[in-house]
Amino acid sequence: MASSARSSETGEDSIIRLIDQAPQPVDMTRELLEGLRASQKSIAPKYFYDEQGSRLFERITRLPEYYLTRTEIGILRTTVQEIAELAGSGAQRHSGKPVLVECGSGSGEKARILIDGVSPQAYVAIDISKDFLVSSCEALSSDYPDLDVYAVCADYSQNWDLSEVLDTDARLLAFFPGSSLGNFEPDEAAIFLSQVGQAISGRGLLLIGIDPPKDASVLEAAYNDSAGVTARFNLNLLTRLNREFGANFDLSGYRHKAVYNQIEARIEMYLVSKRDQEVRIGGDRMFIAKDEAIHTENSYKYSYDRFVDMAQEVGFSCTRYWTDEAGLFSVFLLSA
Ligand SMILES: C[S@@+](CC[C@H](N)C(=O)[O-])C[C@H]1O[C@@H](n2cnc3c(N)ncnc32)[C@H](O)[C@@H]1O
Repeated sequence: MASSARSSETGEDSIIRLIDQAPQPVDMTRELLEGLRASQKSIAPKYFYDEQGSRLFERITRLPEYYLTRTEIGILRTTVQEIAELAGSGAQRHSGKPVLVECGSGSGEKARILIDGVSPQAYVAIDISKDFLVSSCEALSSDYPDLDVYAVCADYSQNWDLSEVLDTDARLLAFFPGSSLGNFEPDEAAIFLSQVGQAISGRGLLLIGIDPPKDASVLEAAYNDSAGVTARFNLNLLTRLNREFGANFDLSGYRHKAVYNQIEARIEMYLVSKRDQEVRIGGDRMFIAKDEAIHTENSYKYSYDRFVDMAQEVGFSCTRYWTDEAGLFSVFLLSA
């Protein structure tokens, strides 16, 4: 994996370090073509996040139907002091303030609650959306001039390397909010958790946001908002493929669809072709039939028992669990 570092300076108080381990375009093209050539066409959800995709996701988080972000923020605000006490205690060898490591950091809005409450010695933001990552980290660094801020552009579903930024003695608070674990298939989610567990073993905790199963009408409204922002977010994938991967998707030929699959306990998101059409991606051509659906995201919803079983199977134990009054969202603090 390519790895280089540079400093970025935007103002007097804003200095961050960028560790660039971004996926290579050739590997992305291979993965995209593999997904689109399969009998069930698919594009992995990580491709949503170019700069425009990240901006659209931020708009989604503020929609009335999208209960996830505001509910998780509410839980974090009310529990951050307890999190700070638990994150600051433990084995003597790893004493001192923890390093906060966030996977899929996005705007960093939730990290700010932890930075205020936990006072970490450094913040490491890992995200695949490079430009958005850099600007979020620069804004954060400017608001917290005494905090060391590292922007790691990497695909966290692949191997990532934090040796450049993490002192082997540092206590860690890993943070994976937003129920992003639900975008992995359950077997991949277990592998991801196990990797995080190995990274923090004996030296820290994992704070993770999980969306439990609930009434299909609530879930489907959250992913089919009335303002159509999620539809734009989904269709932006095709704009991105046209711009970055030499494709010629006609956006007017596709519609957004999100349904809750009760049996699998997951929201499934698709782009459905409105007509028979041919599309070019670089040198490749493919046929997409009328009503054929390109699968773009799963968002698995985990009950308390299902999530805790999976976490325990890969070596975690549950230190604390919090939910809101309506039980819409849950936050777990795990140790490994
Ligand atoms: C659902 S958003 C959550 C953002 C924020 N953490 C929150 O809770 O609101 C997912 C974030 O993870 C990033 N992301 C998605 N897949 C990724 C991957 N495979 N590797 C690294 N970052 C990824 C996206 O760019 C985006 O910022």
